[in-house]
Amino acid sequence: MKLTYYGHSCFLLEWNGQRIIFDPFISPNELAAHIDVQQIRVDAVLVSHGHGDHLADAETIARNSDAPIVSNYEVATWFENKGLRVHPMNLGGKWTFDFGTVKYVNAVHTSSLPDGSNGGNPGGFVVWNEEQCLYFAGDTALHFDMQLIPITCPELDVAILPIGDNFTMGYDDAVIAAEFVECERVIGCHYDTFGYIKIDHEEAKKSFADEGKELILLPIGGSIDI
Ligand code: NI
Ligand code: MN
Repeated sequence: MKLTYYGHSCFLLEWNGQRIIFDPFISPNELAAHIDVQQIRVDAVLVSHGHGDHLADAETIARNSDAPIVSNYEVATWFENKGLRVHPMNLGGKWTFDFGTVKYVNAVHTSSLPDGSNGGNPGGFVVWNEEQCLYFAGDTALHFDMQLIPITCPELDVAILPIGDNFTMGYDDAVIAAEFVECERVIGCHYDTFGYIKIDHEEAKKSFADEGKELILLPIGGSIDI
């Protein structure tokens, strides 16, 4: 798989010729000013919860791509009412799409939509195909349900975890989350975008290295092959 970071919690996953974007928040992010949202084409847009910093560009990208938005029932219905194609899910459920299987898993956070509508319950996604498996945690605290992931899903190749603290778990708790999901390779997200979540990159990497794990912090626009 190839993962490209578009800042904050936004990643593009490419495998088997298909492209899936997670939590698009690009045009309002000054740190991602060099990324052109209008150029992005995908096969699906996955939205973890209703907060603006996870869906600001979902409508634009989904319309430009004629791609479905996959999210919880409430967020999906909100986009459906704007005339978009959607696939609603809810916690604990999985569905096999052309690009792979998606399981919508628990996150401990909140979810409300930008206009105040009910954003349902927040979640994360475990996505897999025949060869590889990825966990995108969304916004979440550290929680014990993460221990269900290695029991109910294929072995993870990589976990994308929030590490910025304040609104989500910080990197110290993310080290424990990596333990819970049994994954040694972590890509950090949800850090540096706002004042509340600025972190010391070297300290964060050291916290993981001290436990024999790897924390990868991609530059915005940067990619990694896994
Ligand atoms: Ni949030
Ligand atoms: Mn957020």
